[in-house]
Amino acid sequence: MFPSLCYILCFLSVLSGIKSDELPILLKLKSALSTSNSKVFDSWVPTNSVCNFDGITCNSNGFVREIELANKNLSVSGALPFDSICQLQSLEKFSFGFNFLSGIITEDLNNCVKLRYLDLGNNVFTGSVPNVSSLTELQYLYLNNSGFSGDFPWKSLQSMMGLLQLSLGDNRLNPAPFPNEVLNLKNLTWLYLSNCTIKGEIPAGIGNLTELRNLEFSANMISGEIPADIGKLQKLWQLEVYNNLLTGKFPVGFGNLKSLEKFDASMNHLEGDLSELRSLTNLDTLQLFENKLSGVIPVEFGEFKRLVSLSLYRNKLTGPLPEKLGSWAEFDYIDASENFLTGPIPPDMCKKGKMTELLVLQNNLTGEIPLNYANCLTLSRFRVSNNSLTGIVPAGIWGLPKLKIIDVALNQLEGPVSLDIKQAKTLAQIYARNNRLNGEIPEEISKASSLVSIDLSENQISGKIPVGIGELKQLSSLHLQRNKLSGSIPDSISSCSSLSDINVAQNSLSGKIPSALSSLPSLNSLNLSQNEVSGQIPNSFISLRLSLLDLSNNRLTGPIPQSLSIAAYNGSFAGNPGLCSSGVISSFRRCSSSHGMSKGVHVLIICFTVGLVMLLVLLAFFIYSKKNEKERQGSLKEESWDVKSFHVLSFTEDEILDSIKEENLIGKGGSGNVYKVNLSNGKELAVKHIWNTDSSGLKRSKSSTPMLGKRGGNKSKEFDAEVQTLSSIRHVNVVKLYCSITSEDSSLLVYEYLPNGSLWDQLHTCQKMELDWDTRYEIAVGAAKGLEYLHHGCQKPVIHRDVKSSNILLDEFLKPRIADFGLAMIVQVHGGKDSSHVIAGTHGYIAPEYGYTYKVNEKSDVYSFGVVLMELVTGKRPIEPDYGDNKDIVNWVCSKVKTRESILSVVDSRIPEDYKEEAVKVLKIAILCTAKLPTLRPTMRTVVQMLEEAEPCNLVGIVISKDGTGKRMDVNQQRKV
Ligand SMILES: *[C@@H]1O[C@H](CO)[C@@H](O)[C@H](O)[C@H]1NC(C)=O
Ligand SMILES: *[C@@H]1O[C@H](CO)[C@@H](O)[C@H](O)[C@H]1NC(C)=O
Ligand SMILES: *[C@@H]1O[C@H](CO)[C@@H](O)[C@H](O)[C@H]1NC(C)=O
Repeated sequence: MFPSLCYILCFLSVLSGIKSDELPILLKLKSALSTSNSKVFDSWVPTNSVCNFDGITCNSNGFVREIELANKNLSVSGALPFDSICQLQSLEKFSFGFNFLSGIITEDLNNCVKLRYLDLGNNVFTGSVPNVSSLTELQYLYLNNSGFSGDFPWKSLQSMMGLLQLSLGDNRLNPAPFPNEVLNLKNLTWLYLSNCTIKGEIPAGIGNLTELRNLEFSANMISGEIPADIGKLQKLWQLEVYNNLLTGKFPVGFGNLKSLEKFDASMNHLEGDLSELRSLTNLDTLQLFENKLSGVIPVEFGEFKRLVSLSLYRNKLTGPLPEKLGSWAEFDYIDASENFLTGPIPPDMCKKGKMTELLVLQNNLTGEIPLNYANCLTLSRFRVSNNSLTGIVPAGIWGLPKLKIIDVALNQLEGPVSLDIKQAKTLAQIYARNNRLNGEIPEEISKASSLVSIDLSENQISGKIPVGIGELKQLSSLHLQRNKLSGSIPDSISSCSSLSDINVAQNSLSGKIPSALSSLPSLNSLNLSQNEVSGQIPNSFISLRLSLLDLSNNRLTGPIPQSLSIAAYNGSFAGNPGLCSSGVISSFRRCSSSHGMSKGVHVLIICFTVGLVMLLVLLAFFIYSKKNEKERQGSLKEESWDVKSFHVLSFTEDEILDSIKEENLIGKGGSGNVYKVNLSNGKELAVKHIWNTDSSGLKRSKSSTPMLGKRGGNKSKEFDAEVQTLSSIRHVNVVKLYCSITSEDSSLLVYEYLPNGSLWDQLHTCQKMELDWDTRYEIAVGAAKGLEYLHHGCQKPVIHRDVKSSNILLDEFLKPRIADFGLAMIVQVHGGKDSSHVIAGTHGYIAPEYGYTYKVNEKSDVYSFGVVLMELVTGKRPIEPDYGDNKDIVNWVCSKVKTRESILSVVDSRIPEDYKEEAVKVLKIAILCTAKLPTLRPTMRTVVQMLEEAEPCNLVGIVISKDGTGKRMDVNQQRKV
């Protein structure tokens, strides 16, 4: 009877298992999937047996047992059809990891009862984790980095007692405590729970998972101490718990993890010493950086035969590094920086010739640099700075072929930069400041062609600056100050086309200043002070835009070039008795030139005249408004007088003397009213009238968004100092401030007059003229250069704080000038502040960080400038009803960048088709400028570069010279050529 029953059953199963039943299921799956890897489904055709489909494995009865389609570039339209997939009755393995599968999985997998292996990891699903609760046979479950979110159904794990590997990390799960359900999975060998929002403590029960080989729960919010029971995990090979909130010491018994090879507990709050780790002799990687570990490094570490990487930086470790550390295996790197280590550098870490990084900076190490490292051809980073190392830097170190950085600064090292440096083809940075290096800089340094930074300052280096230095085209920073260099500065230095920072102060350099220095396109800081340099200051220096220029205490003679005779460079020329000035630097004798009155004197005289007139006006006005006040308001108190009289000023029609009268009113800026003044000599000036207040800053004017910071009283010295600095600003794209005239209650700022109004007027009001794209582009570049100058070109950065199109004025050629910077804050570079706590700005232009920090820095200006660029490209205002609720131009533009068509639709319809591509380039820069995070925004210097790269190809009419002064020709005329 039994045989015949079996026979019947087998027969039935053959009948029901006709392979064609499974064919439609697989074809349905195929039709749901698409791939750029065209070959994947070539074999998946109805004429083929399903068992011959690529990626399909059948069991001995011809039923599908495995679908293996991991890493095939698959995407899915809709969702994976699990209802039908789970009809594959013998399916044991479903492997779809590392694809681009998306969508929400709504169908549950509970009919896939035979499933032992499920991999949906490394995909881009959305929604919550699918229901897998009845997959009781499951041994491998990979859902890591799958895109699932919400709560993980930990209870489902209770029925999966046979689970061997569980991988759920890198998902944005709801915060949850360490899942106790996992602790029952006694056969688990692999548990990956990193980066999935687990909080709370590690349960002691972790010690019951004695089969674990790999345990990872890094990058969570796990707190408390490491439980002692973890020591029971005798088979553990890798333990990764970095980037959590763990506290306390390594528990007694931790050292029982005898199989441990890789251990990373960095970035926690662990304390105590490392003695528990001394028995972990199989470690090959040990990472404990950024904790509070203390005590000495166990000498046993020096006997770890497999150790290849050791990272202990930013702890409080003391004592020496074990002498034999890293001498056994193919040791790769050590970073023990920022501890309190003493004793010598272990000599043999590169014994096997594989070491790449030796980093022990900021300790108290002593002794010499071991000679062995001069032969360590694999070394790419050698950083031993800020220790107490002595002796000669081994010559070979300078020429290691793979070295990128030599950092030996702040030791007591001796010896020369050796000739070997000619072999240092990858060397980018030399930091050797503050040692006792001597000898000459070898001519061979010219062969180290990757050098970007050289800092050999504060040593005893003598001889000349090698001529070959001009061959270093990448060199950006050259610091040789405080040595014993002599001879002249080689002309070749001006071939270092990337140089931005030169400091050779406090040497014995002589000869002339190479005039070609001014041709260095990115030079930003030049310090030649305290040498014996003679001759004249090259006239070419007037084109330099430096944030620091120090030529003091040399033997220079002749005139200080006109444009450098400004307050920003005060002190730059001191200690050169032979210099004379025709500008405003008072401490120099006047040059006895025959040019007659210099421009500066003219300005002074004009200012003085205007000032006198204004004072009279002001006096008259003061008397008038007092009188008026009394007449109109009768008994109002003195304190309220300022505000009222301001309104009186704004709205009375006549009787205001001379130029400060309504008919001359040409603008109401954020900070005050602007009047046009026609001087009798025909010159036109713009005068901005600003009120002071008695205690807490300038009063806000009527239209008024900006508030001014603490000016502290009527005659604030700070205000005067700022005005003085601002009046020294000279840039072709910045409105000139001639002078200020301050009285008890108000200030008059005297500016140059610009006839074409503001960019806002031209773009958004009825005064507008059609601005063609070339003009808009040039306005963008010019305004960017003006701001760049304020940020980077002055001795102290000047933050504008109210960049907007109405503060960009246009001259008769429509060349832009930044205005209203008179209210900007000057960052006190030496005060160590990089931001201010003052609210300023105009709605629609204000960077988001104002909202939550009130902190302002240059990057806030960059944001506002991005808004201006958007105005230029779209022709729209920063705030318009079209944009919808709570939206501004930035949100609106960003919502349109999804497709090419929608981007082009943003561009102003008045811009011809041919130019729209160019306009989109500028729009992209605008989007970068308006990044939410200030740090992600480019600097104005970068903005200028990007804008210049986006230059329309047919814009031949404008020659923009290096210093931004630029010759403008008639664009249209040139275009015909
Ligand atoms: C755990 O592994 C053992 C040994 O391989 C095996 O006998 C046992 O059945 C497994 N337990 C479960 C619940 O699968
Ligand atoms: C953490 O997980 C998120 C997904 O939730 C992923 O985007 C991110 O890259 C992961 N972080 C790391 C360091 O792997
Ligand atoms: C470890 O497992 C044993 C036996 O299954 C159990 O009695 C004990 O409570 C578990 N330990 C912890 C700390 O959960």
